[in-house]
Amino acid sequence: MAKSIAIDGPAGAGKSTIAKLVAKQLGFIYVNTGAMYRAMALFLIRNGIDKDDTPGIEKACELADISITHTDGKQVVLLMGENVNDHLRTEEVGNMASASSVNAKVREKLVALQQKLASHEDVVMDGRDIGTVVLPDSRCKIYLTASSDVRARRRYDELVAKGESADLDKIRADIEERDQRDMTRANSPLKQADDAVLIDSSNMSIEEVKDAIISVAKERL
Ligand code: DC
Repeated sequence: MAKSIAIDGPAGAGKSTIAKLVAKQLGFIYVNTGAMYRAMALFLIRNGIDKDDTPGIEKACELADISITHTDGKQVVLLMGENVNDHLRTEEVGNMASASSVNAKVREKLVALQQKLASHEDVVMDGRDIGTVVLPDSRCKIYLTASSDVRARRRYDELVAKGESADLDKIRADIEERDQRDMTRANSPLKQADDAVLIDSSNMSIEEVKDAIISVAKERL
């Protein structure tokens, strides 16, 4: 059976940075499930579908063709055959992804894609419901978090480094709103799985978090 490391946690906790490093060290593939919800959100934005238009979103689930490939270990998200990686990390797309991911049809579509990927490859997969819903039988589950101040600052630095304009207070408010929505939604809310190891990265370096996860993986896999 393929091995998996399931990493869940709130926005900006460092999941993707760490998951990539862990995957590289162990020779697993990295699957970023947030990018799939973002690709779905991009499809909605491009087609002028509102976040509250439930029938429109459900129809879009039938029309949106989302698939994943890997090039040099890097995940490439294809939307209608187009590589959309460079369009996924904006605040607009992130907020739409958080809003539209409450929809059961959206989740059903993307969870099926995620489970298929994990069935035939060793994966490090990150998201909100990986340990609880997508890979409940994974033997290595991590819940990675950090304070909202630290997470907002990291997101701010990431945007500024890319040359985008950013407002720290607005980012913190968005993060707190997104946490609230991700944690309280009826469908697959963000929560720590009973058998997940909690890591708070607020005062840890990237290297320290990576090493902590590798040691859990060595023990459990
Ligand atoms: O991790 P991220 O910020 O790229 O995720 C964007 C949104 O997608 C997040 O606010 C909630 C949703 N999401 C989800 O519901 N389930 C996942 N497994 C991953 C992301």
